[in-house]
Formats: sequence, C-alpha cells, structure tokens
Amino acid sequence: MSDFRVPTLTRRAFLASAAAVSAGAMLPPQSKATAGTPEFRLRPGLGRAQITPEPHGDTAVWCYDGSLPGPEIRVRQGERLRIAVENALDEETTVHWHGVRVPNAMDGVPHLTQAPIAPGETFTYEFDAVDAGTFWYHPHQRSFEQVGRGLYGPLIVEEADPIRVDRDLTWVLSDWRLTKTAEIREDFGNRHDMMHNGRVGNTVTINGRVPDAFPVRKGERIRLRLINAANARIFGLDFGSHEPVVIALDGQPVEPHAPEGGVVVLGPAMRVDVILDMTADAGSRISVTDRFYKGLEYRLVDLAYDDTPLRETAPDWPVVLPPNPLPEPELATAIRHEVTFNGGMMGAMVMQEMGGSMGDMGKDSSGEMGGMMGNMGGMMNMMHSGGIWFINGVAAEGHIMDPMLTLARDKSHVIAMTNATAWHHPIHLHGHSFRVISRDGKPTRHREWQDTVLMSPRERVEIAFVADNPGEWMLHCHILEHQAAGMMGVFGVA
Ligand code: C2O
Ligand code: CU
Repeated sequence: MSDFRVPTLTRRAFLASAAAVSAGAMLPPQSKATAGTPEFRLRPGLGRAQITPEPHGDTAVWCYDGSLPGPEIRVRQGERLRIAVENALDEETTVHWHGVRVPNAMDGVPHLTQAPIAPGETFTYEFDAVDAGTFWYHPHQRSFEQVGRGLYGPLIVEEADPIRVDRDLTWVLSDWRLTKTAEIREDFGNRHDMMHNGRVGNTVTINGRVPDAFPVRKGERIRLRLINAANARIFGLDFGSHEPVVIALDGQPVEPHAPEGGVVVLGPAMRVDVILDMTADAGSRISVTDRFYKGLEYRLVDLAYDDTPLRETAPDWPVVLPPNPLPEPELATAIRHEVTFNGGMMGAMVMQEMGGSMGDMGKDSSGEMGGMMGNMGGMMNMMHSGGIWFINGVAAEGHIMDPMLTLARDKSHVIAMTNATAWHHPIHLHGHSFRVISRDGKPTRHREWQDTVLMSPRERVEIAFVADNPGEWMLHCHILEHQAAGMMGVFGVA
C-alpha cells in the first residue's frame, strides 16, 4: 500500500538567470522580489495514477507535476511565494490559492483577475503567506472537470513556532466516479449532477489512493490536516474510539474543541486541522468511518497500531495555535447585506407548498420556507432563465458579471446568507476570511474564521469580516457542479 506521503516541492533560491528575468516581466507591480524568495514550479498536465488497489490498473488523470495530489507546497508564515505555472494541458487553466489572502491579481480567476493561461504558456504567481495554516490550490477554469480529473494540491504555511506533535500530516480527501476498469467516467457536468448534489463519486481516496491501513503507534500525537478536494462529496469523519480535537478550520486557528457529535464535517474545499492522540491498544486496528450521508456510511481507512507503543499515555503538550493577523470586524457598526441562494431540484414538500399555500408563507414559523422567495415574479424569472442555481436571483454564466455587492473598503460587513434550497452548499468567498457569527439566529459557539461555510438546507448563516482586500472577488458554492450551473457571483471591495 501507499505510504501516504505527498511529495514536497523542492525550494530553489531565486537565481538571476534568463528564466528569472522573463518571469520578472510578469510580476505584479507591487512585487519586491529579492534573492531568497522561494521559487516553485507547477506543471498541470496529463498523468496516470494508481488510484485503486491492484489488480486494477492505473487511471488516466490530469494532475500537477505528474503527481496526485499535486506536490505539497510548504513555506513559513511571512515568506513570499513565487510559483511559475506552466500549462501542459490541452486547454486553458489558472491556479487559485484557496483560502490564502492574496492580492486580487494573484487570485487565479480567469478573465476577472487574469487572462487564462493558454496551453504551453506560463504565468507566475507571487504573493506573501500572510496567514499560517492549511490551504490548497486548484484551477478556477472549468473546475468541475479540471479538479474532478485530479488537479489539486496542498499548500501548507507553517507557524513561525509550530506546536509540538510527533507527526504533522496532510490528508487530501477526494472522490472519483470510476468505471469497473478504473477509468474516470466521462459524464462531467451532466444536468442531473448539476441539479442535485453534484458529482458525488463511487471511490474515495486519501492522497490520491484508496487507502487500506494507516500505520500509527500508541501514545503518538498527530496533527492531521484534512483537506476536502472533492467536487461535491461532503465528509463526516468518525475516528472510532479516538477523540479528535479541532484546532483550526479553513487554516484559521479556532479555540480547541471536540467536533459536534464527535464527527469532523468537511464540505468541499474546507479544511480541518485536528490533533489526534493515538489512545488505542498497541497492535489494534481502529476504523475511520465516513458517516455524512445517512445509510451510506463506509469505512474510509483503518488506523493500524504498531505492536510497540511510542509512549504509554498521550502527551500534554499545548494545542492552541497563535492567531493570524486578521482584522476584527466591529459588529455594532457593521454594514449589513442579504444574500439568498435559490434553485436546484426542490423537495416534493417544498414544491407542494409553493403551489398550495403561497398565502401562508409569511407566517410560516418552521423556517421551512423562510427566505424562499422575496417575490413570485423574481421566482418566475429564475425559472425561465435556463439557469439552475441563483444568487440573489441571478445565475452566473461565466466569471465576468456585475458585482452583486460592493463593500466599502476597510469597513466591517455582515452578510446574512439564506439557503433557500433543499440542498447543502459550501459557500466560499475569495480574498477574505470571515467569522461565522450565527446560524439560524443562534450565535455560534466559537465564532470561527472560515473561508468556506457549509450551509444546511434552508439554513440562515451570518458572517462578518472587514473588507480590507480591494478588487473584484468571487463568492460561490464549492460544489463545483453548482458553481458551473450558476451558483457564483462577484462582490467588489472598493
Ligand atoms: Cu476553491 Cu473559487 O475556489
Ligand atoms: Cu451548492
């Protein structure tokens, strides 16, 4: 079986070579590149990967540098990254540094922040690693197919003074729809996936492989960085008799706590860092089970304990991470905005209510129809527009559109988001992290910083942040089929 390692990109000091000079021509004007900036190269292209165990053959994928997932980019907080992306695909691509608070021109959104990288061309990204944490990178061009075929990789920014653990590990979780002969099914972007819960597959991988057993030792402390790189699958991981402690969400430190119900939930694009103390018996085998979809639970991997313990009891080292330099939103003076998500196939009950009891909608107290429709006319427009998913009544058709919101720069904002659909949606904002301050009117316990917030069907979530990063940014659902089918918008910060 695989040893679960992701190759780490080697860092080279920047050299004043001809190549460096031509890369320099593409640097953003604010660049203060100097000798010593870590230089990375990423080459998105075709590859083959042993996703399923033998006797299955390998699978044709698209990936970075021939490796699945792409190489782990690892730097220290405060370092400046320069990453030259050479497109070896047969189609245009870009790279988005998910969760990293980059300058707008480095955000990798085709047409909105840069021209897409044509086949054979190179684009050099350059930005500072302002926040420590667990991030990832992926294309923003036809993501539902490019990510779905294997284009993604981890980006880890280490704290200046990392907390003590025995092993610091990254698990990139993904999900594939494979045929019996382990080839990728070609039905990307089909209408059924777009209208329902996206391209949920039939094969789940950790770091690009279907896992069997993961070797651990009794008494060992692991910092496990979980990244959900799947197009659509939501994970709910149950670590059996272990008690994971969540220390960071979407890269941002959070007050250490046990996950709700003991299950670590990750919507697409989300990251969770957990501290896992290996507390079971030497020689034992404990399953990690994914319980997110009721009735579809499955064993993801076994934690296989070595016969000799590392130590008898768990260490008592501190687990609190130092905060990142995020501006604190001022709730009392924050400017408020409303964003409503609509569309998709609706539950039978919702359809019935729509047809039957429109007059009662205002006084419905169950929350069932809360925020479903501002007005019937808007709903009719949506139904006739051909889009499947809508944000504030508009279905995106590309990355260029009028901003649905313009946020005053350096001011605090609260966005009240209503999921008026029958589906889960992980909603992602570019360029900023935000505090999740309430869910269905109840203040959240940890006021967690996130860049992607998973909304349950018909849930109402309030987020708050200081809009300190100027430019035009995407706001979209990270179920990539929903994004492709309209659930995407632009907000401006000016
Ligand atoms: Cu991870 Cu707009 O994306
Ligand atoms: Cu969605």
